[in-house]
Amino acid sequence: MKHIGVLTSGGDAPGMNAAIRAVVRTAEYYGISVTGICSGYQGMIDAHFMPLTARSVSNIIHHGGTILRTARCKAFLEESGRELASRNLTQAGIEGVVVIGGDGSYRGAQKLHEEQGIATIGVPGTIDNDIGGTDYTIGFFTAINTAVEAIDRIRDTAASHDRIFFVEVMGRSSGYIAMISGIAAGAEEILVPETPTNIDSLVEMLRIAKNNGKKSMIIVVAEGDDAGNAMEIANKVAKNSEFTDTRVSIIGHLQRGGAPSAMDRVLASRMGVRAVEALQLGEAGKMVGIHHHKIVLRPLSDAWELCTKFDPALLEIAKILSI
Ligand code: ADP
Ligand code: F6P
Repeated sequence: MKHIGVLTSGGDAPGMNAAIRAVVRTAEYYGISVTGICSGYQGMIDAHFMPLTARSVSNIIHHGGTILRTARCKAFLEESGRELASRNLTQAGIEGVVVIGGDGSYRGAQKLHEEQGIATIGVPGTIDNDIGGTDYTIGFFTAINTAVEAIDRIRDTAASHDRIFFVEVMGRSSGYIAMISGIAAGAEEILVPETPTNIDSLVEMLRIAKNNGKKSMIIVVAEGDDAGNAMEIANKVAKNSEFTDTRVSIIGHLQRGGAPSAMDRVLASRMGVRAVEALQLGEAGKMVGIHHHKIVLRPLSDAWELCTKFDPALLEIAKILSI
């Protein structure tokens, strides 16, 4: 392989720049040229390309966001869009593509490979850590650190005023950020989409905690919880109990930005190197993952077929420790 492309797609995640840098420098190390594809699959369809060299990725390892920008692209869901994308790649001499993104981006990468014959390798970049085939995704460690720092600050004011706070973290269909940041921040309760939320049980828990002498409480809510978002849940609690004077705080997109943590930079670097080496060895239709501390190569479909990140044992730990 003499020429590859790299893109970032879906929601951005801290560490994506470190992954781009690793891809570009590894390719140059092996004598492969690299084209940056701008704004995810949209840039493939619009032939919005830029040459990348080892020097053009200098001084980006510590920056959040993505220098290639990212997008969600409806046209790529259609075969006609992917055909156009594939023609543009071939015209530019691009033989393989490293796709940095979440499971949606991987579905696109699989189609590009199977349907259009372009070699693709996925690198997991999403704060949600909701991809099968890898223990961790790039951006997750930074996002949980951001969430914990924010919850710690909320705890200070909650404790000063003897207040109950509902704190919403990201995760439309995954409660992993909520579970980990909730345990790390010592939350009284963690509500996630993977388990049903019962408002009466929640109220009962608040009463027990109060009777046990707790004056302030933190309830961490994943944005996609089945009982609603943090604001909706706070309203339901107020309607059904004496806990009418609560506060809601939504951490939101703060979790997506900021300097990537050391863990995310190293994970991105290891995965970026492996992705290029995989393409060079003729691998395609695969994703890079980390499993038991080792970098592994798995089928792209593991991303959505093996997504078993939810661990009820973590919720049990949170429950034991919140007495
Ligand atoms: P993420 O990669 O973070 O999961 P999305 O689910 O929004 O983010 O997917 C990113 C992009 O990947 C979409 O905008 C679309 O261009 C492409 N994509 C997602 N699902 C498919 C699919 N089933 N087929 C082809 N392309 C897809
Ligand atoms: O997938 C990452 C994520 O941050 C989710 O946690 C969140 O639900 C979603 O993206 C928000 O996406 P956006 O605001 O970019 O549409």
